[in-house]
Amino acid sequence: MKKYFAMILAGMMAVSLAACGGSSNAPAAAPAAEPAAEAEAQTEEAEAPEAEAQTDAAFTTVAAGELHMATNAAFPPYEMTSDNGGYEGIDVEIATMIAQKLGLELVVDDMEFGSVITSVQSGKADIAMAGLTVTEERMKNVDFTESYATGVQVIIVPEGSDIQTVDDLANDKMIGVQDGTTGYIYCSAPVEDGGYGEDHVTSYTNGAMAIEALKGGKVDAVVIDNEPAKAFVAVNDGLKILDTEYIVENYAIGISKDNPALRDAVNNALKELIADGSVQTIVDKYITAE
Ligand code: ARG
Repeated sequence: MKKYFAMILAGMMAVSLAACGGSSNAPAAAPAAEPAAEAEAQTEEAEAPEAEAQTDAAFTTVAAGELHMATNAAFPPYEMTSDNGGYEGIDVEIATMIAQKLGLELVVDDMEFGSVITSVQSGKADIAMAGLTVTEERMKNVDFTESYATGVQVIIVPEGSDIQTVDDLANDKMIGVQDGTTGYIYCSAPVEDGGYGEDHVTSYTNGAMAIEALKGGKVDAVVIDNEPAKAFVAVNDGLKILDTEYIVENYAIGISKDNPALRDAVNNALKELIADGSVQTIVDKYITAE
């Protein structure tokens, strides 16, 4: 059984490494000095009410003056609904600051996770930002910015579960995952590729539903990113996170391959926010070190 984990781990590391290489070569072309000047020009324009999608500017967005963020707001602490009916979380705050730098207003488009990339590909949203892991497969469909965070796939089980290590997952268990996520992709892979096979995986629309299924005994474990895992376990009694899995992934923003100017503008804004500590400040606000 150990070899399954070794294989998954090796597979994921390969993806992570490939992702690093991929995300860092994308933005190299844009000069660093550009975005500030651009941001100012954009601000004025964004305020003109009947301005069309910004065709005369360096980049265009799906709606004039707006930056549409495709996300699945059921993934705390990256994106979730707030008490006042809006959205909050690490991704929402970073995207708000990126939009500000570009002179745009952020609009959150909440949808199923599986639609996040296609909505950017089909020109319905400008950016896909959803604790979105960079994978080679996804890189065929969208361009990615620099990575702004890392995620780790972890295993949640009921306290007292006989699943104690990742090896135990292979023991004819049913694993709950979020539809279309890397957790789904890795777990549903055939056994010979390091997964557990489709028959041992049940997909749910979002993490919260997978957690409900776990509490109801419909699945034996849930595989999900570490920070949402902590958030779910904190508000659900009787669950725990196994400390056995260490698959590190990179989160980045996905942007249409047809809009390199927007990709560069967003990427430059993001890089500035990483460099000046803004991203870290936002992360620290939502994630407290244990
Ligand atoms: N990091 C995982 C992936 O990219 C899960 C992301 C789920 N995000 C969400 N907002 N529901 O596949």
